[in-house]
Amino acid sequence: MRLKDRVALVTGAGSGIGAATVGLFAQEGARVVISDRSVEAARQVARQVRDSGGDVHVAIGDVTSRADAERIVAETVRHYGALDVLVNSAGITGRQVRQGADFEEVFDTVIDVNLKGTYLMCWFAVPEMKKRGRGSIVNLSSIIGLVGHPLSDGFNPYPASKGGVLQLTRDLGINQARFGIRTNCICPGFTRTALTRGITEDPKLLATLEGLHPMGRLGEPEEIAKAALFLASDDASFVTGAYLAVDGGYTAR
Ligand SMILES: NC(=O)c1ccc[n+]([C@@H]2O[C@H](COP(=O)([O-])OP(=O)(O)OC[C@H]3O[C@@H](n4cnc5c(N)ncnc54)[C@H](O)[C@@H]3O)[C@@H](O)[C@H]2O)c1
Repeated sequence: MRLKDRVALVTGAGSGIGAATVGLFAQEGARVVISDRSVEAARQVARQVRDSGGDVHVAIGDVTSRADAERIVAETVRHYGALDVLVNSAGITGRQVRQGADFEEVFDTVIDVNLKGTYLMCWFAVPEMKKRGRGSIVNLSSIIGLVGHPLSDGFNPYPASKGGVLQLTRDLGINQARFGIRTNCICPGFTRTALTRGITEDPKLLATLEGLHPMGRLGEPEEIAKAALFLASDDASFVTGAYLAVDGGYTAR
């Protein structure tokens, strides 16, 4: 039980990597707040985890809203009495911005969710962690926060947003370390979730993407969740400001 008696808050927990992280954290003894902007998705994950004996609470909200971010953190502390672990998994790609949006709206929306959303959640979580003198923040950056996007024209806001998450992680990591708060991020390779469905449903694109990963396949959300568990737990007690590539060798090329 690597997270026994810890309280974890996971954003974007209604799907993919966030949902897998909730399941694993609950198995490892954490009490987990499932946060997502989708009520139905969050409730469904909560039902599944409770059926397996997990202790979870749902807090709905949009991470781009300062008021929602503040309320989600406050609700976590009200319900479970503390906040030990924050996993920022809420994220989108440009493909998920409303149809017909022009390039500026796509840029603003992706940066808002991926970078500002992560920033806001950290902003409200850190004071709660400081009160306890400990905490672990795990952000979801990406391989595309480290290297360019192969399927892009160079004006894709996603790499910029994920590079920003990596730098936010480093800056929080070095500046909050003295308060006992560790901040790290994961850089997943392409992983099979709703976020990549548009790509993975196209057999040609899928084959191209698989070929970019030396292991010859995409990742599974559970494989990313295991990295989140490591970084969230005391196993990573001397790790802060770091990124962990979980990418089948993608960025080692
Ligand atoms: N899937 C991949 O290949 C991959 C690779 C690298 C990094 N990532 C990152 O990992 C994280 C999780 O991705 P995933 O693949 O599980 O995606 P996903 O689409 O399966 O899940 C994302 C969840 O975030 C929620 N969400 C979106 N915008 C939100 C908002 N404004 N407020 C609150 N919730 C919101 C969605 O409702 C959804 O449930 C993202 O940050 C993503 O950028 C994913």
